Amino acid sequence: MRHFLSPTDFSLEEWDKLLDLAEAIKNNPEKYAHVCDGKKIATLFYEASTRTRLSFEAAMLSLGGSVLGFHSAESSSVSKGESVSDTIRVISCFADICAMRHPKEGAPMVAASKSKIPVINAGDGGHQHPSQTLTDLFTIRSLKGRLDHLTIGLCGDLKFGRTVHSLINALTRYEGIRFVLISPEALRVPSYIRREVLEQKNIPFKEVENLDEVMPELDILYMTRIQKERFFNEEEYIRLKDSYILDAAKMKLAKEDMLVLHPLPRVNEIAVEVDDDPRAAYFKQVQYGMYARMALIMTLLGLEDAVC
Ligand code: NCD
Repeated sequence: MRHFLSPTDFSLEEWDKLLDLAEAIKNNPEKYAHVCDGKKIATLFYEASTRTRLSFEAAMLSLGGSVLGFHSAESSSVSKGESVSDTIRVISCFADICAMRHPKEGAPMVAASKSKIPVINAGDGGHQHPSQTLTDLFTIRSLKGRLDHLTIGLCGDLKFGRTVHSLINALTRYEGIRFVLISPEALRVPSYIRREVLEQKNIPFKEVENLDEVMPELDILYMTRIQKERFFNEEEYIRLKDSYILDAAKMKLAKEDMLVLHPLPRVNEIAVEVDDDPRAAYFKQVQYGMYARMALIMTLLGLEDAVC
């Protein structure tokens, strides 16, 4: 049995296979409409979500399966004091696979250690969010035609942004990747990622505070929300919340084929006027996310070769 807790749980070959499957599903979704007939996914969300939970549910429904679960800690037995380990043992009796989001780093890993069904980490605190990364890579590959030889700007909250941490982990496995890390001093990428991922693998990167000056070099600009819920101090959040606002004037500085991605939800960091720019790919990214999750569910259930 496989779990999906971090991008590195799958080898590069397995990632490429997952992305190929997502592509095949995108090109012919009807062919996959009954692959998961009779299967159930449990979505266990202890933290707020719109896209990720509904994307997992839409993915399972599109494969012919069904869904159950809860969308807040208050509406589950956690409010009575139940542990994640006990909850997953119970859910293992009802469902074939589960996607879990939790405010505590490592909670899905604890669940996986007790689970009888595959566990997908749908975001654990400020740590990782690997299914968003699958979405991001699928979007980049579909729209750019490659995952190698790219300069990727990551902008905003690089400290608490779990999507950023997983994306860096995954992209460093491709050749010719260079990162431009754009953030205020207080929200720089955690030192364990700088040391253990970027420096150890000799990945070229630079850390800057100014977005305008690096815009012309980027192939991808990955914007992120300042993660309000992870701040200890509200004043600090207020000081940093509008550090970056991508608008039409800034887009003029970018390459004609640069892509703007964002895991969403956005707050202020991308002006609505950018939505009409053909380089804005964040709503397409949502659609790609469903196909990516369909491929992930099939693979974790051992059904990746069910449709020829
Ligand atoms: C992200 C998350 O939850 O980490 N959202 C998502 O899953 N699409 C990003 C965010 O909340 O800022």
